[in-house]
Amino acid sequence: MSVWFNPAREIDALLRKAATSVPGFEADFDPELKSSDPRHADFQANGVLAAAKKAKANPRALASALLESLRTEGGVDEKLIQVEIAGPGFINFKLTPVALGSWLREYRDESKWRAGAARLMGGRKVVIDYPSPNTAKQMHVGHLRPIVIGEAVARLVEFCGADLVRDNHIGDWGTNFGILILAIRRAGFQLDAKSPHALEDLERLYKEGSAATKADPALMDAARAELAKLQAGDAANTALWKEIVEVSNAACQRIYDQFDLKSDVILGESFYRDKVDQVYAELQQYGLAEESEGALVAWHDEEPRFSRHAETKMPFIIRKRDGSSNYASTDLATLLYRLEHFKADEIIYVTDGRQQDHFHQLFVTGAKWFKASKRRLPRLRHVWFGTILGEDGKAIKTKSGDPVRLQALIDEATERAYQEVKKKNPDLPEAEHRSIAKAIGVAALRYADLSSSRTMDYTFSWEKLLAFEGNTAPYLMYAVVRVRSIFRKSGLAVGQGEEGATDPETPTEIALARKLLGFTAALDSALEDLRPHHLCTYLHELAAAYGAFYAADSVIVDEPAVKARRLMLCSRTTAILEVGLRLLGIEPVERM
Ligand code: ARG
Repeated sequence: MSVWFNPAREIDALLRKAATSVPGFEADFDPELKSSDPRHADFQANGVLAAAKKAKANPRALASALLESLRTEGGVDEKLIQVEIAGPGFINFKLTPVALGSWLREYRDESKWRAGAARLMGGRKVVIDYPSPNTAKQMHVGHLRPIVIGEAVARLVEFCGADLVRDNHIGDWGTNFGILILAIRRAGFQLDAKSPHALEDLERLYKEGSAATKADPALMDAARAELAKLQAGDAANTALWKEIVEVSNAACQRIYDQFDLKSDVILGESFYRDKVDQVYAELQQYGLAEESEGALVAWHDEEPRFSRHAETKMPFIIRKRDGSSNYASTDLATLLYRLEHFKADEIIYVTDGRQQDHFHQLFVTGAKWFKASKRRLPRLRHVWFGTILGEDGKAIKTKSGDPVRLQALIDEATERAYQEVKKKNPDLPEAEHRSIAKAIGVAALRYADLSSSRTMDYTFSWEKLLAFEGNTAPYLMYAVVRVRSIFRKSGLAVGQGEEGATDPETPTEIALARKLLGFTAALDSALEDLRPHHLCTYLHELAAAYGAFYAADSVIVDEPAVKARRLMLCSRTTAILEVGLRLLGIEPVERM
């Protein structure tokens, strides 16, 4: 008896295969298998209805022909899965308690789940581009989402078997360096990379420089001259630029450390500065780019908005009028590098939603370019997100109108978590209050961000973020603590005491077992369009199912088989909660 890690996937594949030998089903038949109301079934296939309509056949007859073919093909093991036709031609699949018990015994820990999930992305070389901030600025609240979402997506993809490269594509080669270098020179400022204020100083100087160049065209020309010198490789400007980037990277690193974010490579825009000429040359050679008012641009006439005939002219500008490269040129060069150097099968870009047009044009241009040059095109995905709003419904800001610094946000989250933990568990030693608060603070920031669909804006609220009830990080972390305490109190390690566990029996045991198995579907949905909130929703539901089980069924009972199976349910619950939280970037704690 083989136990499937992800029964829905297996059933889906079997149905597709069974359909190929039944007249009436087309080759691309989609069973439309969905999770179902658990009272009736675990999964329901609705696709027969559409197929029957197309073939002008009776849906129930077609459904039974499909089941007949499924049976001859070897079908599903009826000890594990009950199959029946329902309604006008749906097919219901219900996992038996034997199946639930077998799954729990077989898929007992992270290594098993990883192996099971590896079917999803196994062997794929994936480059993920995050958090990719622009340099010479302190990190602010706007940097929270690329860090948090990027990290969760990276962990998810890696868990599902991808061979992953985390590439931090920093913006370290913009026009702003001309202004900044000029401002530094004019102020006679000595950049001290070791000073803790170095980045603040640079930010202040940039603001001054930016105001000054706006006010005085001669200064603007001077800034342009500094930039031109830098781009031409002038030694003094290059040295200064390097220092600025180092200061900036060091400050970012202090933030990354608190979010446990590690990049494999940091290949910023500057890395591609000598690789853009090939882009200009090839795109012109293939007739994909043309000069327009001095700039080099790509049109996409088949795309209403990016066509040269459109009213609002929006070409993809790949070289500026003054001959310098821009965001588009470096991104095209980056695309080629990721194909040639990393052999990427897939590239995932994590940025805010305002860059959708850019990535749309990049992907279309890249596809045409690689087709013309007979290169393989990696799968390209833009994982974009909405804005964090303040309670007033506008983008979150400080009272003075500046963006909230990310470090200030972390500090406040930690301080608030500290107050909560002290209130909840006053007897713990102070040092532990502090370390728990640190874990919860950052976890709460992350979870609030990840728990709603990323493409939506969300309203930032300290109360909601740190609540110990509801769909929050503290609630889930606390659920882990509660399950673990059962083991601690009985002197067992998690995973111990489940020898001889029988299959789930009571309604609450069965409901919890079914939820545990739902981990595989949650992974599927989160991976499908790279939306971690599916995982959050699932973990929250799992914690609730555990709550109902714990309220109804005592764990530490006399009958050995019952006790063993309930301990098994507890152990799987905490293990899946912990793995799930880690996938979101959250490290569970022992006590809180
Ligand atoms: N530096 C850009 C920004 O802060 C994001 C870069 C995203 N990655 C890319 N390959 N374009 O908006």
